[in-house]
Amino acid sequence: MKAGLPTTPTLHYSTTPRPSLPWFKDAFPLYLAPMAGVTDKVFRQTCKGYGADVLVTEFVSAEGVFRRNERTGEYLDFDPCERPLGVQLFGADASHMAKAAKQVVDWVAPDFIDLNFGCPVNKVVAKNGGSALLKDCPTLTSVAEAVVDAVAPLPVTAKIRIGWDAAGASLAKWHRRSEYRLLATAICFHPAKSRAGAQKRKLPAS
Ligand SMILES: Cc1cc2nc3c(=O)[nH]c(=O)nc-3n(C[C@H](O)[C@H](O)[C@H](O)COP(=O)(O)O)c2cc1C
Repeated sequence: MKAGLPTTPTLHYSTTPRPSLPWFKDAFPLYLAPMAGVTDKVFRQTCKGYGADVLVTEFVSAEGVFRRNERTGEYLDFDPCERPLGVQLFGADASHMAKAAKQVVDWVAPDFIDLNFGCPVNKVVAKNGGSALLKDCPTLTSVAEAVVDAVAPLPVTAKIRIGWDAAGASLAKWHRRSEYRLLATAICFHPAKSRAGAQKRKLPAS
């Protein structure tokens, strides 16, 4: 095995065809990027007015969903005019993420769940969330697999970077080799390594 290339894990997902995303039918849709502290429902609706086709909430942690406090309620609050809308979740524990995703679906009924595998912010990475999972492909896969199974047939998408650092860029090769890409309905690639990883090793971000 090539150095730096993670082992492909054994996957146990169902063979049921994944749902397709109806908002990809005619043309490539314009997505509003999720931005913590920015993309609240007023901002999202403004962007929708200017032509955004698909909206995503800012990320919410699985633990935040379990707490169900006022702030989480605000993160998850949206109006019907915002559909199609996805709720973005982050976390590193597959069973917590699956449970949180199911709770979100039962609670606010979004059109899809989006998984955050790209956030480089320290407080997220320190808990192994966001782009930290790029260093641990089997865990990343188990999170995706658990969430896909928990909310099926609702679509699950993922936002991901090409790797944690220069060595981690092998993640892209791993995607091609493995069946991981079959887990989610759509994957949004950031053409950059995790900046947290890059800064730590004094490498350029992309
Ligand atoms: C203030 C701010 C908050 C962000 N919050 C999120 C977030 O909650 N979820 C996410 O996937 N990306 C988040 N992002 C990343 C953006 O969605 C977008 O992908 C990014 O800004 C563009 O790429 P780059 O910053 O890596 O160049 C955030 C970006 C900014 C500037």
